Amino acid sequence: LVLILDFGSQYTHLITRRVRQLGVLSLCISGTAPLASLAGLRPRAIVLSGGPHSVHASGAPMFPQGFLQFVADAGAHVLGVCYGMQLLVQSLGGAVEAGEKQEYGKMEVEVTARSSALYGEGEVGKRQTVWMSHGDEVVRLPEGFEVVARSVQGAIAAIENREKRFYGLQYHPEVTHSPQGMETLRCFLFDVCGIKADWKMQDVLDEEIRTIQSMVGPDEHVICALSGGVDSTVAATLVHKAIGDRLHCVFVDNGLLRYNERERVMSTFESDLHLPVTCIDASEQFLSKLKGVKDPEMKRKIIGREFIAVFDDFAHKLEQKIGKRSGYLVQGTLYPDVIESCPPPGSGRTHSHTIKSHHNVGGLPKDMKLKLIEPLKLLFKDEVRKLGSILNVPESFLKRHPFPGPGLAVRVLGDVTEGNALEVLRQVDEIFVQAIKDAGLYDIIWQAFAVFLPVQTVGVQGDQRTHSHAVALRAITSEDGMTADWYYFEREFLVDVVNKICNNVRGINRVVQDITQKPPATVEWE
Ligand code: XMP
Repeated sequence: LVLILDFGSQYTHLITRRVRQLGVLSLCISGTAPLASLAGLRPRAIVLSGGPHSVHASGAPMFPQGFLQFVADAGAHVLGVCYGMQLLVQSLGGAVEAGEKQEYGKMEVEVTARSSALYGEGEVGKRQTVWMSHGDEVVRLPEGFEVVARSVQGAIAAIENREKRFYGLQYHPEVTHSPQGMETLRCFLFDVCGIKADWKMQDVLDEEIRTIQSMVGPDEHVICALSGGVDSTVAATLVHKAIGDRLHCVFVDNGLLRYNERERVMSTFESDLHLPVTCIDASEQFLSKLKGVKDPEMKRKIIGREFIAVFDDFAHKLEQKIGKRSGYLVQGTLYPDVIESCPPPGSGRTHSHTIKSHHNVGGLPKDMKLKLIEPLKLLFKDEVRKLGSILNVPESFLKRHPFPGPGLAVRVLGDVTEGNALEVLRQVDEIFVQAIKDAGLYDIIWQAFAVFLPVQTVGVQGDQRTHSHAVALRAITSEDGMTADWYYFEREFLVDVVNKICNNVRGINRVVQDITQKPPATVEWE
């Protein structure tokens, strides 16, 4: 196991991913978590992440008291990255100061040691391009350390104390802008720490199945909310494999689904996945609660609450029908949700809930009676897709773009029940996404959708003045939805889509494209 201690860097989750890509299980926990939370984990290596702070700033996050003794006793290897390296140096008696020249972005570093654990033998004089992002720098090393690489500007870029098993990199080996960074991580994990690449999806699956079988008693039943998305579908398929037809899936039509979504999803569940699914039409219930509500957070909270009310009701009726208790609810929560839900204190990172109440994590009522089964909560999206493929979930399903739990409610800005906004949005969205599929772009794009704007603009259609609504198109590329870039379409593609929308959807006379990255925007508009 490799443990990543998070000190608030935007790249921390990338370190976790890179280690897993090398076939080694890695877990990420807050850098300031109490020592007790590390004790049971027995990590072979610990990576201290970067972070936005200076080690001299008041409130700068620090690893827990006794951490260095714990590391020594456990015989673990420690790699500090950027802030993590500075923290290590400072706490071992070295010195960190504000650098004369700040180093941000691409930088050349040169190996200065004839023999180094991180770079191997005989690499002295070799240069590589790396990604730096630091204002402070290490100016004096603690006893027993040596410099093994420097930036071309002279700053210390890599350090080692092989005897004590401490290592540090001032740059970020985890980002793609450090092309040889993966090689350095590989060298650290396999050559330096002697870790074996033995973390496989099949093992994850077997382990999860065993856990669920031992957790759910032989008489107990489990319910699962299927959204039609990749995560809940893979989670349900896995739980079904573990406990068979004691799993009862429910698909809620909340009136906020995409064009023909209910029919498409139900037929896949039944004919391809053989999952026992009940479809509940709760659209009136949801839409009546949303009537007149414009505030995005309020909308999300209402939807989260209604979902739980529908599940509770379903569980209650099921209990009456089968005479058995269903004490568990399956959720497709992923690792990024879990990481974002517990940011390190002092990291300056906001709680993801305070940005948006993702209703599979933040919106659950405190008095909920059902216990949660979250078999994917240690996995990233691409890992879930791999797991789904082992579980024979059809490829076409696994490649579906993510769709938010609150559905089209976060894509109709303002009151979703006003006019026929939902119906108009469904038609526009379908035209846009179908055009993307026809152009062979669906798998390249992470997510594409339309947004209904509550503004009317003047247009001219068939020589007539119109005063109709505008819609926005959003298509993004991303690795995991935590950061995103907008997709650059060819002019011809856009001309064609806009023509189709304006000619086929009544009530739309203007189409705009959202060209904002995340951050500063989020993926969804609400
Ligand atoms: P944001 O808008 O937060 O979206 O940048 C990041 C990714 O998460 C999806 N999303 C949600 N998924 N429940 C979900 O299951 C939610 O409440 C929710 N809100 C956003 C969004 O579609 C994107 O893929």
